[in-house]
Amino acid sequence: MTTRSALWNAAATSAAMLLILLFVDPAGRAPEWARFMARQHPAIVHLPIGFLLFGGLLAAFRRWQKEDQPGRVEQAALVLGGWGGVAAAAAGSWLIQMGGYPTDALFWHRVLGFVIPLAAAGTVLANVSAPTRGLRGASWTLLVGSLIVGGHLGGEMTHGKAFAAEYTPGMLKPLVGDWPTLETRFDLSQPETSSVYEVIVVPILRTNCTSCHGEGRTKGGLDLATADAIAAHETDTEDDPLITWGDAQSSLLIQRIVLPIEHPRAMPPYPDAKPLSHADVELLRWWVDSGAGFEKPFSAVARPEAIEHLLGLYGLGDILTGVFALDLPQPDSSAIAEIKDWGVTISYVAADMQLLEWSGQDSSPLHEMAVTDRIKEHVVSVDLSGGNASDADVTRLGDFPHLASVDLSRTAVTGSTLAHLAGLEYLTRLNLYGTRVDDAALEHLANLSALESVYLWQTNVTDEGVARLRDALPNAEINFGE
Ligand code: HEC
Repeated sequence: MTTRSALWNAAATSAAMLLILLFVDPAGRAPEWARFMARQHPAIVHLPIGFLLFGGLLAAFRRWQKEDQPGRVEQAALVLGGWGGVAAAAAGSWLIQMGGYPTDALFWHRVLGFVIPLAAAGTVLANVSAPTRGLRGASWTLLVGSLIVGGHLGGEMTHGKAFAAEYTPGMLKPLVGDWPTLETRFDLSQPETSSVYEVIVVPILRTNCTSCHGEGRTKGGLDLATADAIAAHETDTEDDPLITWGDAQSSLLIQRIVLPIEHPRAMPPYPDAKPLSHADVELLRWWVDSGAGFEKPFSAVARPEAIEHLLGLYGLGDILTGVFALDLPQPDSSAIAEIKDWGVTISYVAADMQLLEWSGQDSSPLHEMAVTDRIKEHVVSVDLSGGNASDADVTRLGDFPHLASVDLSRTAVTGSTLAHLAGLEYLTRLNLYGTRVDDAALEHLANLSALESVYLWQTNVTDEGVARLRDALPNAEINFGE
């Protein structure tokens, strides 16, 4: 090949790339006729990759043979590969317009997609006319380097990071690092502190929406990239607001994602982007319906069974919150055996948990400190109902730091010592049915903010006492037998 034709090739390649850059605005809308080609991008890219790597092998072989002049086949491979790269860049640019790809990996993939055809044309030229070997080497390095990195980033986008790394042999694992897997899509390791928005909503929006709504592009004037942007969005007057907390049906965000995919206003728009999965639609709907907003921690939002089930499908199993999230060593089995000998029923809450339930009519074993202190961290439920429990036992229960449920129903308890339970941060259920507790005793419960249900049926409390308790614990259900 002559220097002259290599120059022409380089000029034509540059002009083609410039046209793509000028006329295919990533934030624009892909023309109808280009969509088929856009979708072929993942297939088209293999053509330039094949030709260019073939050219690279020929060049390496030639260097090994100490030959300086590139052969015709090597040059032809570079020219074909370069123009294949132009086609791939055009298809890729339209594909970006169609949206639906994560923008973080996209930027460098796109840059390298532009570099590759130019580097191929440059290498053709350097092969015939470069004054120094160094320049030729540099152009080859740029070409092959961009191919490898650009191709890798592209593969990551189509298959997800885990795809290429999934079957990495053990000894290579340190090289590829820990790629996220499906299970880590939602990170629920800290349900007490992370918000529903952060752990559920952000990952869904980032995978499906922010390629068009956020990160520099705000189609329909909508930015879904941050909580502030979502909160600040104002819809047209004839539309419902973007989000009405507690009412998914009146929220534009939900209305648009539940439309049938062929509807022109359905989101994400089909066929530009992949429709949301059923699970993702349900999770977003739950987020809005529950009124969780941007702050509410995961553990503080009620999860209907269907949602629990969906989260299970993501491999999360049961989400452990409150006392169940405690990480305790195995309880002392000799202490358990001894307590059982005194007639107490002690059982594990669940097979794979180190938590215990205590029940028995005789409350005196509670006071065998030397033994019961060895398991008091493990006991989450104590049921003394119908037995001989007294106010002194209530005092003792205050020493069991992880109690979540206490049943004192039908006992002689008067409630005068209920103040001893004030430190029980997990106490959610307290049964005082059929005891002699009165309004004064209820005052001691006012600070037990974890309480979800209190049973006060057939006691000495009055309507006023119950009303005061309801004021103090607005989230608790107070069962008074009305
Ligand atoms: C391929 C690009 C693209 C993707 C991906 C996409 N949208 Fe859109 N979205 C648009 C375009 C274009 C508009 C403006 C035209 C319209 O209203 O239909 C729009 C408009 C909207 C509107 C109306 C905003 C208003 O105030 O009128 C909502 C709500 C919306 N999108 C939600 C979403 C959600 C939620 C997702 C992710 C599940 C999503 N979109 C994904 C392109 C996209």
